[in-house]
Amino acid sequence: MTDWHKAMNKKVNLEITDYGYSGEGVGRNKGKVFFVPYALKDELVSCKIVKETSSFCKARLVEIKNKSDKRINAPCPYFAKCGGCTFQNLNYQDELEIKKQIISNQLKKVDFAGDIEVIASPKEYNYRNKIKLFCNGRSLSLNELESSRLVEIDRCLLVEEEINSVIQTVQTFINAKNIEKDIDNVYIRKQGQNILVWFKFFKPVKLEFGGLQLMLGAECGIYQSLGKAKPGHVMGAKVLSSNEFGFDCEFDVNAFHQVNNEVGQKLYQEVVDSVLGNKVINAYSGAGVLSGILALSGKTVYGVELGQAEHNSAERLKENNKLNKLFNIKGDCAEIIPNLISSDLQSLIVDPPRAGCDKKVCEAINNADVKRVIYISCDSSTLVRDIARMSNFKIKSVKIFDMFPKTSSIEVLCILEK
Ligand SMILES: C[S@@+](CC[C@H](N)C(=O)[O-])C[C@H]1O[C@@H](n2cnc3c(N)ncnc32)[C@H](O)[C@@H]1O
Repeated sequence: MTDWHKAMNKKVNLEITDYGYSGEGVGRNKGKVFFVPYALKDELVSCKIVKETSSFCKARLVEIKNKSDKRINAPCPYFAKCGGCTFQNLNYQDELEIKKQIISNQLKKVDFAGDIEVIASPKEYNYRNKIKLFCNGRSLSLNELESSRLVEIDRCLLVEEEINSVIQTVQTFINAKNIEKDIDNVYIRKQGQNILVWFKFFKPVKLEFGGLQLMLGAECGIYQSLGKAKPGHVMGAKVLSSNEFGFDCEFDVNAFHQVNNEVGQKLYQEVVDSVLGNKVINAYSGAGVLSGILALSGKTVYGVELGQAEHNSAERLKENNKLNKLFNIKGDCAEIIPNLISSDLQSLIVDPPRAGCDKKVCEAINNADVKRVIYISCDSSTLVRDIARMSNFKIKSVKIFDMFPKTSSIEVLCILEK
């Protein structure tokens, strides 16, 4: 047996003293930091090492020897098998407290020790408006934690109930057509009364979708694609239509949209209230909803977005609602932002993906004469990196908008000022 195999088989007893950045329980043993998913602070646990480096170990929870009085039974039968949720074993207030602690620990790295306000999600469960499923050759599935292994599921407690009904319908269709082995992913999205289902196939398949369209109903649309190709419309609704903030929106099937509508609206309102001046740049602007709200309030808005589907959706939003003060620019923020910042600009919004802002974007903002940066982040480690790169600015306020209850993802709105 190799040293590596011995390490993997080793059982370690640990006291959990804190939470890691992904919500895992953290303990220490023989000078090493252990990260144990699903273990709670103050618990005494037994775990098995799954990965060992010179400074830390990732470990699997085997037994809870002394339970935290905060632990509750997770309502989902797939909890801790499916890797989607982290915090179903706590009540919501305790979850929010941990998220606040995680962000507070992260922001200490850029010398922030101020208050952090937490805005809870009105819905703890059934809040997601989309899901990406896999197929394991038999059944629709989700991923195990940090693994490509799949867990068969027939419903997910995080998605809106109508999406769960669609999961059942799509599973019946897949079985009836014997296409279990041909499917890479099924994406299901809902906005308003509209549902779109997008099948991504491994290999070309000849399929008659009429029966599925009938089962789903007239408000639904079906898309399909092969490999990395763009989604092609098959039948039914073509776009996700909804009325948000008083204007008509039509989103492409593959365009970004905030996953939790209610928290997304609270976040946007806070951003609108934080913007200074009559002109604003909205970097990483997605399908343009936030840009649209700002334009509707009378601001001149420059939205910068790389994705074609998002740009198309933002252009439709501009046309459908006659938003003459909205300018959607398609391109990479790294190339566009340094040339777009002008001396009359008082505030700038950035809402990058998890990878954070490009270094060129941070440098351009840092050297600009902008009073306020409104940074929306879904990854606190890149947020901290980018704040450090914008060293001419100081953190004025931090708010958590709990966009993703029960999961380890944390959405943060950080206002920076010179
Ligand atoms: C977290 S989403 C935010 C979208 C938008 N602010 C909203 O609220 O819907 C990040 C967006 O950045 C876009 N994006 C990613 N890399 C980019 C880049 N280098 N330049 C411009 N946009 C980019 C993605 O396509 C995505 O729409």
